[in-house]
Amino acid sequence: MTAFNINGRAVDIAAGPETPLLWVIREHLKLTGTKYGCGIARCGACTVHVDGEPFRSCVTWLEDVEGRAVTTIEGLSPNAGHPLQKAWIAEQVPQCGYCQSGQIMQAAALLERTPVPTREQIITHMDGNICRCGTYVRIIAAIERASREG
Ligand code: FES
Ligand code: FES
Repeated sequence: MTAFNINGRAVDIAAGPETPLLWVIREHLKLTGTKYGCGIARCGACTVHVDGEPFRSCVTWLEDVEGRAVTTIEGLSPNAGHPLQKAWIAEQVPQCGYCQSGQIMQAAALLERTPVPTREQIITHMDGNICRCGTYVRIIAAIERASREG
């Protein structure tokens, strides 16, 4: 059994220590907002926070989060009212939507550390998150909006 906290809730998971956290989140905990894209830390679709830092959950093992606090898109705010979530809607960022929870979690980690990032800082921080629908310009606009209005 591995004990950790997810979205403010204590959980005890019966799975092998090298089970990917992404599997635990989606299959054991049924939190399906976090997506599987590549499985090799190359796309960012599976991004969650572990103790406030962005982690690729497809290459994070269950044993790595023992006793730690994991946040998924479902736990980012109690009512989808995080400034990024509001800005994402205002800028109409999502197209197919598949990559978007990972994008928002990656962006949230940036604003947590750097509330008013430069455009260059945004581009550098978001560089590893791939969007096949090409929503990059809107993602940057939404992060800038959230920084302004948050
Ligand atoms: S699924 Fe984890 S980075 Fe692509
Ligand atoms: S919105 Fe479709 S992959 Fe990003």
